Amino acid sequence: MNFLLVDRINEWADTWRAARTQIQTRLQKRGKPPLLISGDFIQVDVNSASDVRNFGNWGTVFTQDLYILCYLISEIFDDIGNLEEFTRLVARQAPVGAKFLFVERRESQWEDKIKDLAANSGMALEEFRYSQGNMDADEQMSDLGEILDDVGRKSRVTWDALYCVGTKQ
Ligand SMILES: C[S@@+](CC[C@H](N)C(=O)[O-])C[C@H]1O[C@@H](n2cnc3c(N)ncnc32)[C@H](O)[C@@H]1O
Repeated sequence: MNFLLVDRINEWADTWRAARTQIQTRLQKRGKPPLLISGDFIQVDVNSASDVRNFGNWGTVFTQDLYILCYLISEIFDDIGNLEEFTRLVARQAPVGAKFLFVERRESQWEDKIKDLAANSGMALEEFRYSQGNMDADEQMSDLGEILDDVGRKSRVTWDALYCVGTKQ
């Protein structure tokens, strides 16, 4: 299994390593055979025209089967132009049939933006689905311990999300 994590914040490289450990542990707990997981992190600002332009030349970096844009569109908010170009370039490298999973807060403005991104990138979009709930009982805010005290703010323990799958044509 091969991952590529893309974000403008360098510290997410650490998250990539944590994600790899989590996947291995979960497979182990379920008695599944170990999986060879490899991955990279690259720092890209999708608001930066030059970052996005250069990114489009990276070719094989983006030949994945599954692409996930998770709470990215609502982060970018107004400055959507470069994100459109970014998504278009990434989709151009994707194999036909590759899946794009969009996850966002449940608001119609994000549905509209996802529709635009998909149309602009040659994807067929399935229907929107919705998910609402609370974190599992084994994952409590208090698990954050001293971090919770340091940050001085309560973390979010509920979600109200929409998600949708696009297929590269
Ligand atoms: C709400 S977080 C979601 C993080 C992760 N995808 C998740 O679901 O847990 C939004 C992420 O978008 C990143 N981000 C915001 N603006 C960005 C930009 N212009 N280019 C690249 N990443 C950006 C932030 O650094 C942050 O990690």
